[in-house]
Amino acid sequence: MEIAPAKGKLGILLVGLGAVSTTTIAGVFAVRKGIARPIGSLTQMGTIRLGKRTEGRSPKISDIVPLSSLDDVVFGGWDIFDEDCYAAARTAGVLEPSLLEQVRPELEQIRPWPAVFDQRYVKRLEGPNVKKGANKKDLADQVGADIRKFKADHQIDRLVMVWCGSTEVFATEGPAHASVEAFERALERNDPSIPSSMVYAYAAIREGIPYANAAPNLTADIPALVELAARTRAPLAGKDLKTGQTLIKTIIAPGLKARLLGVEGWYSTNILGNRDGEVLDDPESFKTKEESKKSVLDYILQPQLYPELYEDLCHVVRINYYPPRGDNKEGWDNIDIVGWLGYPMQLKINFLCRDSILAAPIVLDVALFLDLARRAGMHGIQEWLSFYFKSPVHAPGLYPEHDLFIQLMKLKNTLRYLKGEELITHLGREYYD
Ligand SMILES: NC(=O)c1ccc[n+]([C@@H]2O[C@H](COP(=O)([O-])OP(=O)(O)OC[C@H]3O[C@@H](n4cnc5c(N)ncnc54)[C@H](O)[C@@H]3O)[C@@H](O)[C@H]2O)c1
Repeated sequence: MEIAPAKGKLGILLVGLGAVSTTTIAGVFAVRKGIARPIGSLTQMGTIRLGKRTEGRSPKISDIVPLSSLDDVVFGGWDIFDEDCYAAARTAGVLEPSLLEQVRPELEQIRPWPAVFDQRYVKRLEGPNVKKGANKKDLADQVGADIRKFKADHQIDRLVMVWCGSTEVFATEGPAHASVEAFERALERNDPSIPSSMVYAYAAIREGIPYANAAPNLTADIPALVELAARTRAPLAGKDLKTGQTLIKTIIAPGLKARLLGVEGWYSTNILGNRDGEVLDDPESFKTKEESKKSVLDYILQPQLYPELYEDLCHVVRINYYPPRGDNKEGWDNIDIVGWLGYPMQLKINFLCRDSILAAPIVLDVALFLDLARRAGMHGIQEWLSFYFKSPVHAPGLYPEHDLFIQLMKLKNTLRYLKGEELITHLGREYYD
């Protein structure tokens, strides 16, 4: 497949300069300066096997597909708070001040543009750096103007946008989301079923800019924006980054399922003290998150195929806002499993993780892979990026693939396909024939 080279600058537009965004940005600057390593990032550290096992070919992913170099990446973003990226990173409290000091000049240059924000959609937040406009269409035009100015000021060649803003209240698809025309009319009449996140997504996709959603709220996963992306050839990905407890869930569950061990119950609880935890303390935002977290097991365990093993599974997910912990979440999972002849067993997992440390390499990879997709002419939903998300967006009528290992195989096979390399099926008969 013809892939345009990654020449010139790539602008990464981040909506929301909170814990995840600032950890991503500061991390990229630190890696660029050689003071830290990009651990967790496939685009920076991953390898890919090509050809037969006997050929011994396992180049770095970045050596086989043309990805933007970190030196060519420029960041810009919006937030309802007007502090610069250095101050925002200090507020988020994820990275050590000693590390932030070393990239301080670069971070201080990034000041968020005024946000499209309405408290109806994120009840626990209020901030001063907010746009005013006649209606949501006007606000989308203002976002478009920010993007064009950023592009011109930094002589940027290509762009991607990632929503790293707070989780908005739970919403379902409605008539305003049904087509581009209905959506545009709804923007003009300030329809309440269009949350702030959709205004940004519309502004980006309208320009053909690849768009990803790092949060679980309904955004680009509506027919109107999928249709718009088809017209402008924008690649889409989402949603809700697969980090923390859900990452572990999608590592453990396929293993239990592979050995046909039954699961009677899975109780997940965690304590979290950052701003994300505070926003999720609101029941309406929590509902959005809960839906995203709970669907995972159903798809992996396939209770419809294995009713005796998984049909009565009791799955409970709790998030408790506990300020002293900051971004250093602690999660507990109790899994009640069932083995041979129905004998019960238990598995306990206590994960002391750092959410944004797990999220930052994903934001970077998704941005670089979406830019690759755009240059390779792949538009619309990029299912091969499901690997990174808790609720992978998918075509209507298709169930999403949640198993991390199938997702990784899909991702790597997509890269092989893009380069015209043989796909790896793991059949392996040729070694014995
Ligand atoms: N940290 C993780 O591992 C992880 C995993 C999955 C999903 N997420 C999601 O990613 C998002 C970001 O997480 P975080 O930990 O950085 O949260 P955060 O609260 O630190 O940052 C979110 C930022 O978005 C800003 N914001 C909210 N609405 C906005 C709007 N309309 N326009 C511009 N800015 C807006 C807030 O002011 C805040 O600074 C959350 O929705 C979270 O649920 C995070």
